[in-house]
Amino acid sequence: MPTIKQLTAIEVLDSRGRPTVKAGCVLDSGVAGEASVPSGASTGAAEALELRDGDRRRYRGLGCRKAVMNILNAISDAVCGRSFDTQGDLDQRLIDLDGTDNKRNLGANAMLAVSIAFARAVAAETGETLYAHFARLAGSSTQTLPRLTVNLFSGNKHAGGTDGGGVAIQDVLLVPGSAASIDESLATVWSVYQHAAELCAERFGSPPLTADEGGLAPPVDGCEAMIDLAVEAMTRAGYEPGRNVAIALDIASSHFYRDGVYTLDGETLDSESMIERLGAWVARWPIVSVEDGLAEDDWEHWPSLRDTLSDHALTLGDDLLCTNPARIERAIDTGAADALLLKVNQIGTLTESAAALKLARDAGWQVTVSARSGETEDNWLADLAVGFGGDQIKIGSITQSERLAKYNRLLEIERETDWPVVGWPRR
Ligand code: PGA
Ligand code: ZN
Repeated sequence: MPTIKQLTAIEVLDSRGRPTVKAGCVLDSGVAGEASVPSGASTGAAEALELRDGDRRRYRGLGCRKAVMNILNAISDAVCGRSFDTQGDLDQRLIDLDGTDNKRNLGANAMLAVSIAFARAVAAETGETLYAHFARLAGSSTQTLPRLTVNLFSGNKHAGGTDGGGVAIQDVLLVPGSAASIDESLATVWSVYQHAAELCAERFGSPPLTADEGGLAPPVDGCEAMIDLAVEAMTRAGYEPGRNVAIALDIASSHFYRDGVYTLDGETLDSESMIERLGAWVARWPIVSVEDGLAEDDWEHWPSLRDTLSDHALTLGDDLLCTNPARIERAIDTGAADALLLKVNQIGTLTESAAALKLARDAGWQVTVSARSGETEDNWLADLAVGFGGDQIKIGSITQSERLAKYNRLLEIERETDWPVVGWPRR
């Protein structure tokens, strides 16, 4: 039974240069584990609270010293010297100690850092790989690797917003559907990315800027031009769109929805017209997944979105669901979606994330395990996606080390296990 001897915590910086939390957990045996937590920019309103200091003079209020102090004081007092049989016991202790519905007391950033650091320490103590440990936590026996979904182009919140005329949708992602391995998937994506960058340089006169997750942010004339450009890059790279490489979209539409209407590239669409538009897109292009096609509080129209997309693409909920079991249950009951985007920091502990996973699985949904736009060099996400048996993983593009830490870890796991990549898209 692992006993926690000591917790450590420091404020570190994420890939946007903003503060985040890194925790360490030392067990009685002396074995230790560490974990850093990521941070979103295009966040859902129902996410667990990320505790920030609010002191405008330091990092414009984004400091994480309070979260760090919560680990060193309140959480340490509650868990040090205690034994925890399971991850569930530790996480429940944290949840009870916080005592709020959205973790605003201790901060989800503080709680998740401790939750994962404990998991790492216990895995190390038992000599298990982290992915095997996560699989045990989730009760998963799946022996597959997730299919990659990789950012090619980005707009909106990840590319400076739309005030300067940027594209409304957040991400156009590549799905290397015919690749037999992670290794082949990365080589495929790399080739399309290079052709896309060259294409942009030819067309716009200079190489495009990159967005927060490393996707290219070319000055295209709207969403449809961006999708066309992705298809052109695939073709130039020698792939057949829809056969070798498909497209996933993160519409992130909560961020251009106001007063019941969506403002898409200057056009104003009501929910029905937005659904129609997305239906036309999946019929026209090889799109296999549409994330947040409607806004997080446009619940009543989601079932119709799902019906419209279902012959072609997954209806994937990110801001809609916030990895929150109660919201996932509502979506299952109403037929609002058929796939879960799982981000552990939206809910704040591993145990609640595993509960979200189980709900989605029991409903026959697919699951994409996802990074955040603010990441660190920590690579636990790769182990989590494999251990939780994720169908897909969404890490970002392939040009920045905070993303590559995870891709490179997937390559290591692939070498170690020789497990196949999940076959997808399944039509
Ligand atoms: P975020 O965005 O990490 O900035 O919230 C990622 C996403 O919307 O999938
Ligand atoms: Zn999203």
